Amino acid sequence: MAHPRFPNLTVLDHPLIQHKLSLLRDRRTTTRDFTGLVGEIAMLMAYEVTKDLPLEPVVVETPLERMTGAQVAGKKLVLVPILRAGLGMVDGIRQLVPSARVGHIGLYRDEATLQPVHYYFKIPKDGEGRDFLVLDPMLATGGSAAAACTALKEAGAQRVRLLSLVAAPAGVQHLLDTHPDVPVVAAALDRELNAHGYILPGLGDAGDRLFGTR
Ligand code: PRP
Ligand code: URA
Repeated sequence: MAHPRFPNLTVLDHPLIQHKLSLLRDRRTTTRDFTGLVGEIAMLMAYEVTKDLPLEPVVVETPLERMTGAQVAGKKLVLVPILRAGLGMVDGIRQLVPSARVGHIGLYRDEATLQPVHYYFKIPKDGEGRDFLVLDPMLATGGSAAAACTALKEAGAQRVRLLSLVAAPAGVQHLLDTHPDVPVVAAALDRELNAHGYILPGLGDAGDRLFGTR
């Protein structure tokens, strides 16, 4: 259901997602546990956002008889992690959707200007007609997510959604202003950004906590 403040936002309030998110926010959580939790939350979020995938009939021979079952129809889903922190969400989702394709977008936020800087882009060539899930644990100013959506659309993507763990109001609004056709699915909508563009209360620097670089 759309969030009352933002028509483009859905916050997933599943109890397991919320429980794991609290563990993730805790400053005492180790890199090892942090990595595991990001993967688990991403998997639960993917379970929710794939609930509307179209199905088609498929004939199956059971050991006893032939029956008509169902299988997911259409082209394979494309997961697009924004490097680096989005990488932490990939494996959890691939456990649910092993046939998903994986593209990569390299972006980092300039610490002084908070503007996204591009350094890598690779997605499947036949993007038309595919569903793209952009993965990034943090939606702060929204600059990185908007730049990723722009790059994907320039490469031919038509159906794009963003999966984030923690979103800030400013980021959701920025995405609404720049890409109103891109739904945002998050585990939490936090209060605000601090002067350095970090989400409050947030969970800190997701990339650093995932990869132990600080
Ligand atoms: C973080 C995060 C997002 C971005 C969010 O990445 O993973 O990509 O910041 O901020 P924004 O919404 O204001 O653009 P960062 O730039 O720290 O790069 P890293 O993952 O390589 O550490
Ligand atoms: N990037 C992060 O990793 N954390 C924030 O709070 C904001 C941007």
